[in-house]
Amino acid sequence: MKITFCCTQTPPEPWLAGFRTALPQATIEAWAPGAPPADYAVVWAPPQQFLDEQQELKGIFNIGAGVDALMKLTLPEGAAVVRIDDGGMAAQMAEFVCHAVIRHFRELDGYEVDVAQGKWSFRKPRLRSAYPVGVMGLGVLGDRVARALTGFDFPVLGWSRSPRQVDRVRCFAGQDQFNDFLSGSRFLVCLLPLTPETEGIMRRETLSMLKPGGYVINVARGGHLVEEDLVALIDEGHLAGAALDVFRTEPLAAEHAFWTHPKITVTPHTSARTLRDESIAQIAGKIAGMARGEPVAGVVDRKRGY
Ligand code: NAP
Ligand code: GLV
Repeated sequence: MKITFCCTQTPPEPWLAGFRTALPQATIEAWAPGAPPADYAVVWAPPQQFLDEQQELKGIFNIGAGVDALMKLTLPEGAAVVRIDDGGMAAQMAEFVCHAVIRHFRELDGYEVDVAQGKWSFRKPRLRSAYPVGVMGLGVLGDRVARALTGFDFPVLGWSRSPRQVDRVRCFAGQDQFNDFLSGSRFLVCLLPLTPETEGIMRRETLSMLKPGGYVINVARGGHLVEEDLVALIDEGHLAGAALDVFRTEPLAAEHAFWTHPKITVTPHTSARTLRDESIAQIAGKIAGMARGEPVAGVVDRKRGY
């Protein structure tokens, strides 16, 4: 069995060594133009030339949860596209989002400013019930995040494409229930895949439906957010602020207004990182399963785009 590795921005050596240990019967090499056809590919944002040349692939394994970059390319017809299914990302995402929610709810940024000025001051405790958290996307990551938030007794709402049930979460589904979901939320967490249906989903019209003093946490993709609408709604006072981990252009340009906006917190696409050892173990297991003709979890529905 032949495996080809084509991950831009990732040094291949540790991955190749890991796969060679996990799948000793396979040959795995880093891809170079003109390389012979392989059976399986491990990829992150590969060039179109790679896919054009590798027409015999049975499986394309994306070393991340989001496949939006891959879905924009022309893929070999017969290849199953498989995303990372948790692989240690769900726990990271839950800690990141809970931290962002709690930091805003408990006004920890304000305390930090006070303390830096030597002020021993108290703020009035906020009413938790007035801060419902809406989680858009109840998949592998959104489900974990929503459940983690219930552990802090926040009212939690969730929204997905098809109906879902999550313990202690008020679940909404589909376009018909979107407005009720938004108007019931004060925090809005985005954990949707980026697809033609979800592109620009956070824009003036939708963000205006959040309760006054809304707070946006985008940990999915920059393309979900219309940046200028967010800034305008914060500056107009309808939204209290935002924690943004993902951007339309990454890295975020040095002159971008988000860096210095006093109510926007920026992190460099780091809320849930691909963990190498976990990912190698998961992908190697799935390649072995696929080679035996078994079904594997995390296969992307190309029509839906996730
Ligand atoms: P997932 O398991 O595929 O879950 C996606 C969820 O979104 C599902 O609940 C799905 O509904 C829902 N959804 C999709 N399209 C929808 C629509 N049009 N309307 C309403 N709901 C819709 O994905 P995941 O593993 O949780 O990951 C989510 C995203 O997080 C990834 O695609 C990626 O972009 C992002 N991510 C970011 C980082 C980071 O470091 N910032 C790390 C990892 C992932 P159904 O349940 O009905 O299918
Ligand atoms: C990271 O953004 C991922 O999609 O895994």
